[in-house]
Amino acid sequence: MKYSHLIFSYLLMSVSNAFITGRKSNNAASLMPRSNIASSSSSMMQSVVTNHEVVRVELGDDRSYPIYIGGKFEPSEGGAMLASHVHGNRCLIVTNDRVAPILLDKYVEMIESNGKQVDTLVLPDGEENKSIDVMTMVLDKAMELGLDRKVTFVALGGGVIGDMVGFSAAIYQRGVNFIQVPTTVMSMVDSSVGGKTGVNHPLGKNMVGAFYQPQCVYIDIDTLSTLPDRELQSGISEIIKYGLIQDADFFIWLEKNMDGLLNRNLEIFTYAIKRSCEIKAAVVEADEKEAGLRATLNLGHTFGHAIESGSGYGHWLHGEAVAIGTAMAAQMSAKMGWIEDSLVERIYNILLAAKLPLELPVNSPMDQETFLKLMSKDKKVANGQLRLILLKGELGNCVFTGDFDEQAMIDTIDTFVAECKGKSA
Ligand SMILES: NC(=O)c1ccc[n+]([C@@H]2O[C@H](COP(=O)([O-])OP(=O)(O)OC[C@H]3O[C@@H](n4cnc5c(N)ncnc54)[C@H](O)[C@@H]3O)[C@@H](O)[C@H]2O)c1
Ligand SMILES: [Zn+2]
Repeated sequence: MKYSHLIFSYLLMSVSNAFITGRKSNNAASLMPRSNIASSSSSMMQSVVTNHEVVRVELGDDRSYPIYIGGKFEPSEGGAMLASHVHGNRCLIVTNDRVAPILLDKYVEMIESNGKQVDTLVLPDGEENKSIDVMTMVLDKAMELGLDRKVTFVALGGGVIGDMVGFSAAIYQRGVNFIQVPTTVMSMVDSSVGGKTGVNHPLGKNMVGAFYQPQCVYIDIDTLSTLPDRELQSGISEIIKYGLIQDADFFIWLEKNMDGLLNRNLEIFTYAIKRSCEIKAAVVEADEKEAGLRATLNLGHTFGHAIESGSGYGHWLHGEAVAIGTAMAAQMSAKMGWIEDSLVERIYNILLAAKLPLELPVNSPMDQETFLKLMSKDKKVANGQLRLILLKGELGNCVFTGDFDEQAMIDTIDTFVAECKGKSA
């Protein structure tokens, strides 16, 4: 696709769907795409976009930041953009040993050519390395280099690098600037946006961390060209989630454009990422610290996290476990009569079209007891009560609630467990 000189007419998008039972968003303006060039107080203006799009995350206390989204950034343009968010003279790019050979030199050159001094650190790849020990390597490197509080950390990689580097930026000298350069679908549409940073603890995933916002997020969709299909599909699971929880039109668009996404069509990917970032940005703006609304981003995650940890980390990719969890949330919602069976079928169909799993495998160690035990450890449990994100009403509506029929949840778990046990029999 040619991005140059596209004319976009932007109409105010109505946030037609309730976030939490019956609640309409009063934040529709923040869902408007914003141009990188033109700015105007008019919400109905036409905007000229060059080769990238910008979604802004509007937060208080000078913490607002842009998400740049493009597919054919000129290195000079991208470098200038990144360097403009490096407030001091020095930055530390942190990546991993899988991404480094593909992208590190390019990003060093882009930022250096804009007059900044760049140091680099390459960490070991993998979720198992999202730990306090590995994160300490970032702090050690910064200390060895004598970096002061004006340094900017740049996270170059997927969600593991983004979460870990964001957290190290939050605590190095009580907080230094950082920039997210996400290079997986998962990190482009989810982990790089919203300021949740952290590492895993041996006793629990993401249990140590901080809310800490970046200076900017720089998404070059071209970087996805080297991402394996399975990782790509895992990220698409989170994109589907955004349609389900609050944007029926986006879900319908995804139903029509799934092949384009799987084929990495740039135009289609740009829209999918932009819309996902807009939805996440609006949710984060309204509920940064997850008092309620932000929890809806966890559709399918309570079941999914149980599947992830019960199956042994590494067996499923996060988005794959979330896909099965989403199928379970949909089935449970239908069992309670909250959504039509036809919607469950559409959800199954779109997950299948995205080549995501919908069932536990024949050898799954998951049984009812394991599900219930792991789900009771969920971060959304409050005062001993499990709360779930479930679908209710028309497509695009969800609720975050502890008020559900527990038998429907048990029946759903039993159905999924029986399906996989049945297969192994
Ligand atoms: N902070 C949040 O709000 C939030 C939200 C969702 C997920 N997460 C976290 O994100 C992590 C998952 O993120 P992820 O799915 O990006 O995993 P990841 O960071 O492990 O990346 C997946 C794999 O792809 C490789 N990779 C990255 N970019 C590549 C590229 N361009 N080409 C080839 N290979 C590439 C990585 O090195 C890794 O091996 C989890 O730790 C999860 O907890 C955080
Ligand atoms: Zn997720």
